[in-house]
Amino acid sequence: MQYKRLDIHYTEYSSLGELPERDRILCEEAIKAQKSSYAPYSKFNVGAAVLLEDGTIVRGSNQENAASPSGLCAERTALFAAGVLHPGVPMLSLAIVGGPDYGMCSSPATPCGGCRQVMAEYQKISKRPLSIIMIGKDAIWKFDSVDDVLPLIFDSI
Ligand code: THU
Repeated sequence: MQYKRLDIHYTEYSSLGELPERDRILCEEAIKAQKSSYAPYSKFNVGAAVLLEDGTIVRGSNQENAASPSGLCAERTALFAAGVLHPGVPMLSLAIVGGPDYGMCSSPATPCGGCRQVMAEYQKISKRPLSIIMIGKDAIWKFDSVDDVLPLIFDSI
């Protein structure tokens, strides 16, 4: 028997101004996207923005439904929209922001497991690392690859 451990790596920034310009612009897009969140049930509003290799930025936000499983998270609306509108264009980076009543949590909003699996799929077909940026009021976390937010990714193929 052998005890093992996995390390994950990320960079913490203390403000948006500290980020490299490309990341900061993407975060600002995620913050704008949060305004389109439709979350009358949870009142937890999430915005996301995906940067594509050709420079396009695609926004998403959580869209809820009276029949709750029919709603969708911000990350997935952004990733699926990018997949539909720009098929075959690699995805480079995804920024996420969330908080109650269109606000921002102090600690970065972290994506749910289902969204992480979808990120893994697009990272795979993009054939390059997809970085994930989680925005909070007190800190911003940047993960350079989906592997760092979803260790031991399920991949049947
Ligand atoms: N939500 C997201 O948009 N992204 C996540 O990764 C976690 C949760 C949304 C779903 C629901 O509309 C609300 O936040 C509360 O769970």
